This record gives sequence, C-alpha cells and structure tokens, in this order.
Amino acid sequence: MSFTPSKSLEELSKLKIIKQFNNGHNANSVHLLEGNIIRKTYKNKKPYTQYFNKEIKVLTHLKDCKYVSKLINYNPNNLTLYVTYCGKKPKRTYDNLKKIRKVAKKLHKNFGVVRYYNDSDPRIINKGSRVQYDIFVPNTGINEKGKITFFDFGSHNWHIIKKH
Ligand SMILES: Nc1ncnc2c1ncn2[C@@H]1O[C@H](COP(=O)(O)OP(=O)(O)OP(=O)(O)O)[C@@H](O)[C@H]1O
Ligand SMILES: [Mg+2]
Repeated sequence: MSFTPSKSLEELSKLKIIKQFNNGHNANSVHLLEGNIIRKTYKNKKPYTQYFNKEIKVLTHLKDCKYVSKLINYNPNNLTLYVTYCGKKPKRTYDNLKKIRKVAKKLHKNFGVVRYYNDSDPRIINKGSRVQYDIFVPNTGINEKGKITFFDFGSHNWHIIKKH
C-alpha cells in the first residue's frame, strides 16, 4: 500500500520539542513537537527494527482510519516516525474502557486489523478467541471531546488479517 507524506522530513526536523515522554519498551525516545506532532525513534537494534517496520505497515494500512494516529512521515535510516498527537492518556473509567473496545472492534471489522493475545495468555481460553479488544490504555489518547484514538502499533501482536 502506498504512502504519501503530508510533511517533508526537513520540515519536521525543524519543529521545536514541547515535551519528552517516558521511554517505553521499544522506543529510544518519544517527543511531542509543536503542531501536535509526535516523533518516535525506535532503538537501533534487533528486534526493534522489525517493530518499526510493523508500525509503519499497520499505520499505512490504517491511513484512512479516523481512530488511529495519522502517519505524517518516517525515516527508515534512523527508525524515526512522525504521527499525529492523540491526546492525553484516558482515565480507566468504565465508559473509556468501553470506548476502547469499540474502537478495537472497528479496526477489526472495518479495516481487518487485530491485536492477538500472546499464546500464553489465559484469557484466550476463557474467551475462546485470540482477538484482544481490551487494548492497553497507555497506547491510546483521548481528546477534549472524549474521542479515543489508538497509537503504538509496533508490537508483533498486531496483525493485518484482511486487505483493505
Ligand atoms: N500519537 C501519540 N499521541 C499521544 N501520546 C503519544 C503518542 N505516541 C506516543 N505517545 C506517548 O508516548 C508514550 C510512549 O509511546 P509508545 O507507546 O508509542 O512507545 P513504546 O516504546 O512502543 O511503548 P511500549 O512498548 O512501552 O508500549 C505513550 O505511552 C504516550 O504517553
Ligand atoms: Mg506504548
């Protein structure tokens, strides 16, 4: 699937840093830049290169999906990607957890993108399905209107099961 960047890497490299996020497991650094843009740089070693490639693949596949961060541009040479900022981490309220499940179901039904439980996860047996809809809250953002958006698609648990 083709991808057309909405901003050049040169333009993006000039943006000022507004905030630095705590490093996750896969990223070397995550920054909020001016213009509500997130810059994420993966650790430059195996298996993080695969995670970077997976994230680009999933975000490209989901480029018309309004429930995920939009890919703005990326640079495979330094494993950096630029995406739209999705807002703060939602509170773990019943309502927000319900919204998260709803978004995950939309990704599955409308875009053929699913997250699977790890094979060792006991919830697979309980639910009789490998598909995980209760997405990790810190990988989602909420805006002023209460809309939830997903980001962080580098995990090998994310799968594209259907062409869109
Ligand atoms: N598009 C975004 N919108 C809002 N916040 C974001 C976005 N991307 C990253 N963040 C913030 O940066 C943190 C780390 O980013 P991300 O989850 O992508 O990194 P990671 O290293 O893959 O994390 P982990 O593997 O620990 O889940 C997030 O928990 C969130 O606070
Ligand atoms: Mg994360």
